[in-house]
Amino acid sequence: PLVPLKQILDNAIAGGYGVPALNVNNMEAIQAISAAAKKVKSPLIVQASRGALKYTNLIYLKHLMMAASEENPEIPMALHLDHGDNIESVKTAIDLGFTSVMIDASHHSYEENVRITKEVVDYAHQFGVTVEAELGTLGGIEEDITGEVQLTDPDQAEDFVKTTGVDCLAVAIGTSHGAYKFKSEPKLAIDLVKTISDRVHIPLVMHGSSSVPVELREQINKYGGAMPDACGVPISAIQAAVKNGVAKINVDTDLRMAMTGAIRKVFVEQPDKFDPRDYCRPGREAIQAQAEVKMTAFGSAGHA
Ligand code: G3H
Ligand code: 13P
Ligand code: NA
Ligand code: ZN
Repeated sequence: PLVPLKQILDNAIAGGYGVPALNVNNMEAIQAISAAAKKVKSPLIVQASRGALKYTNLIYLKHLMMAASEENPEIPMALHLDHGDNIESVKTAIDLGFTSVMIDASHHSYEENVRITKEVVDYAHQFGVTVEAELGTLGGIEEDITGEVQLTDPDQAEDFVKTTGVDCLAVAIGTSHGAYKFKSEPKLAIDLVKTISDRVHIPLVMHGSSSVPVELREQINKYGGAMPDACGVPISAIQAAVKNGVAKINVDTDLRMAMTGAIRKVFVEQPDKFDPRDYCRPGREAIQAQAEVKMTAFGSAGHA
């Protein structure tokens, strides 16, 4: 059934496991991640960015997500707005039936972040909708970037959670979004997760958590792609973060790469094909395989 994200995350904290939050933009991705959840018996966090909602004209994504929940009534499923930017995007998502929203006002001043987040919490909680907010900034590609990256401050986190009443908090511990995160194995501030968790007592969220697996990039490049080398977040770092209080782990890039690699392979190996089902089906299977990997590695498999 559709459940508030809070329920999934509270269970995860109690059970000591993490749950992947998987971004979707189309039918194949939604089918793939719900098939994965069904197969490995994992709770499911389906998340849509503002870009995903725009791409699908809102209504298509809404009905595709509802179809996933109707098809899999046994799976606890949260529909989550990723990186909502203001109260309007939050209201739109709640009107569509989302059970959870992120308000990311972390680029504003601290006081403004508090004000906007509190407004969203007061609004969303009337509907039983969970709220995720963010404190700090995610990292850039270069490890030696300084100044821009602002890791989450534990004192501020404690005050922020107390003042806003937010349900879960995205923390900045050195990760960044996208396929080009690090030049070499990153050093993430896993200890900071524990410090913050001990202060705020709510589930923590890790963004930018794709591992950017070498084999996915190699497949893309083998079949005509041109993705430069880069390192992602090691699974072991995510597992350590989960032990220290992270319950929701955001993954988008790895799913995108999986689908792209599978489609490219069909295009190169079977250039006579022109029925979209001939390449969308392997694309969908590749997303499902990645989703199963995350659910198993983060520990949510077996907990639906
Ligand atoms: O946080 C970013 C997510 O990967 C979504 O990306 O805004 O391109 O849909 P998007
Ligand atoms: P990745 O780009 O590492 O997959 O991160 C996705 C994310 O944080 C979505 O909010
Ligand atoms: Na931020
Ligand atoms: Zn993110």
